Amino acid sequence: MAQKFDVIVLGAGAAGMMCAIRAGQRGRSVLVLDHAKAPGEKIRISGGGRCNFTNIGAAPQHYLSGNAHFVKSALARYTARDFLDLVERHRIPWNEKTLGQLFCDNSAKDIIAMLLSEMSAAKVSLKLQTAIDGIEKSPDGYRLATSAGQFEAGSLVVATGGKSIPKMGATGFAYEIAAQFGLKLVETRPGLVPLTFDQNTLEKLSPLSGIAVPAEVRHGRTGFREAMLFTHRGLSGPSILQISSYWREGDDITLSIEPDASISDALKSARKTNGRQAAQTALCEILPKRLAQYFVENRGVTGNLADLSDKMLTGLAASIQDWKIRPAGSEGYRTAEVTLGGIDTSALDSKTMQAKAVPGLYFIGECVDVTGWLGGYNFQWAWSSGYACGDSL
Ligand code: FDA
Repeated sequence: MAQKFDVIVLGAGAAGMMCAIRAGQRGRSVLVLDHAKAPGEKIRISGGGRCNFTNIGAAPQHYLSGNAHFVKSALARYTARDFLDLVERHRIPWNEKTLGQLFCDNSAKDIIAMLLSEMSAAKVSLKLQTAIDGIEKSPDGYRLATSAGQFEAGSLVVATGGKSIPKMGATGFAYEIAAQFGLKLVETRPGLVPLTFDQNTLEKLSPLSGIAVPAEVRHGRTGFREAMLFTHRGLSGPSILQISSYWREGDDITLSIEPDASISDALKSARKTNGRQAAQTALCEILPKRLAQYFVENRGVTGNLADLSDKMLTGLAASIQDWKIRPAGSEGYRTAEVTLGGIDTSALDSKTMQAKAVPGLYFIGECVDVTGWLGGYNFQWAWSSGYACGDSL
């Protein structure tokens, strides 16, 4: 005999737990199933262990999706302020780092404990280490065969996340369920991920490995101004992770290092006041020594500033602040923070996350074709889509 619930949520991650809490608060009997040993594993490792749990400025323009309007309803229904209120009710100490990013003072585990305590208050059942073997439509909803037996529910919510960090149990299960029920998918790819170079470029740039600088990184009309890091395989740091979600193979990105300074103006003014200075010495006022040396050597610039024409200085500055470079690829799902693409939003009702053509079936969180910028936006989507769904059950 199958055990019956009003709602079954697949996935005890950020979105699944929030949805279960809201549905439970509304008096529904809710079961959450997960194949992992512990709930909220990605919450635990997020934000370097301190969980950047939301961004106080979260708004639709911070999300990538085939339909830019899709996120509006859920984000308005459950805002960053709403989540912060919950955090404060649980007396979890937090701080704002930069750019509206809110982090726990102590540990991401505080957020998991908060969600588990809300789940228990809402009488939600949680079954971990449970493999889902099959899902089928039943007369009253959905029947699930699992390693813990058979379960049935009128509503089935899929919150099993994306493919990033397979080592932590990420699977493409949500996409398989979507395909089983005939829902369209937007092709998936790794997002918020370091970019890599081909062997030739790597050899040239290898002396720079380990250097971190402020940079503006652009792809087409999109640009991010944050820290950038040269790694032994390519580029990383927040500005690179951000642009990686927009970048496609075969495209260039444009780097402007120390974007708040005009290197061209600085070199020209140094030439006026100190013409005997070498270009590399002048550049060292702005850039780390190894970088200054790399650019000067790369442009073949020698001699004193006084010997260098405007054109040479402008060219040198452009090689630093208008540097077009073509990544060969990315580090992939192994290290990507998120999965771009997923369940096509045109198949879902943006108010409830229900599949339009499949009553009682819902998709929330990262498995949907909605991906936030770096900075707490992805958890906010998980909370907002989870709440909107739970509030409709
Ligand atoms: P999530 O992946 O959290 O949960 C899915 C759940 O489903 C998991 O518990 C999994 O075990 C379960 N599951 C998967 N397949 C299953 C199957 N076949 N059967 C049963 N269960 C299954 N975002 C942010 O806003 N701020 C931050 O600080 C960070 N930091 C960060 C660091 C790192 C290293 C990563 C990888 C990611 C982040 N993120 C982030 C992104 C954030 O973690 C992500 O957007 C959310 O966790 C997505 O929440 P979901 O609930 O949709 O999926």
